[in-house]
Amino acid sequence: MKNIRKLGILTGGGDCPGLNAVIRAVVHTAIRVHGLEVCGILDGYAGLIHKNVRSLGLADVSGILPRGGTILGTSNRDNPFHYSEPGPRGENEPRDVSAQALKTIEYNEIDALVTVGGDGTQAIAQRFFAKHGLPVVGVPKTIDNDLNGTDVTFGFDTALNIATTAVDKLHSTAESHHRVMVIEVMGRYAGWIALGAGLAGGGDVILVPEFPYHIEKVCDHIRGRAAGGKRFSLVVVAEGAKAEGGQMVVARQVNDASDPIRLGGIAALVANQVEDITGIESRFTILGHVQRGGSPSPFDRILASRFGFHAVEAAVNRKFGQLVGLRGSEIRTTPIEEAVAEPRRVRAEEDLVHVAKAVGTCFGA
Ligand code: F6P
Repeated sequence: MKNIRKLGILTGGGDCPGLNAVIRAVVHTAIRVHGLEVCGILDGYAGLIHKNVRSLGLADVSGILPRGGTILGTSNRDNPFHYSEPGPRGENEPRDVSAQALKTIEYNEIDALVTVGGDGTQAIAQRFFAKHGLPVVGVPKTIDNDLNGTDVTFGFDTALNIATTAVDKLHSTAESHHRVMVIEVMGRYAGWIALGAGLAGGGDVILVPEFPYHIEKVCDHIRGRAAGGKRFSLVVVAEGAKAEGGQMVVARQVNDASDPIRLGGIAALVANQVEDITGIESRFTILGHVQRGGSPSPFDRILASRFGFHAVEAAVNRKFGQLVGLRGSEIRTTPIEEAVAEPRRVRAEEDLVHVAKAVGTCFGA
């Protein structure tokens, strides 16, 4: 069996803090431990389609550990199996250009590809593996923490820190003005950031996509607090939350992205309804992409470095089609196919949910 001589690495999907730490760990482990060559594919799968590849040496990754974003660039719309040329929306019919993408792998003599990304990126990696036999190893990235095959994705801890800091800041202004402050956090169809930041920041109400809420229950809780002398409340709402029998709030629909739904705006709806029903003045804040920016937390730097190291080990040991992940305190691998089969979402029996309820948090459900 042919030994691995050259590794490729790409970062796909939405960026998140810790991507550079993975790239650095992959490059160091490949070169220093195994004497391999490494090259980076630029802008996720777009680089494979358009032959944008650069070699990566130790000097290229010097100083990048604490930097947010990705030195390789990323994209969450260039799926080689369903690719439309850039242009005005709807102009180009999507095509399967995966064979063209594979030529970039062959031309650059890449023996194995490390794909750093969330469910969309890993589902594409799995397709390349299953359909074309491309040797891939996945690394789980996303602030949403919604990927199976790992207890936690890298990027989540940093986003949680940013969201918790924001909840803390809103606390003091809510208290001074006797207002309800509604903060919308990211997370797509999973409520991990809202649950974590709500618990860490002492949110009075946490609304997550997994538990559709009743606005009356939310308002009862806020009124109850006011009756008990707490004339302010903090509501932490996940962008994907929805009322029982209602719909998620969509900011925009775009048809050429891997996920055509851009969520956003639930905080305004909740704040206005709370003000109308309770008569308590309410404001909303949408935290947005600030959750994905900036320097990774120490936890994420370490986790990303461990993932990068173990991804190279998996490739060298020819464990292809696998995703590295954290299981307890160990790094283990899981078939990518299993990891992407279902998103990891907040369950009612989650310990964090029990704890949040025990400390008086209302889920509106
Ligand atoms: O998946 C990460 C994430 O930040 C989600 O939380 C959010 O819904 C989405 O990406 C936003 O994507 P974009 O950067 O394309 O607006």
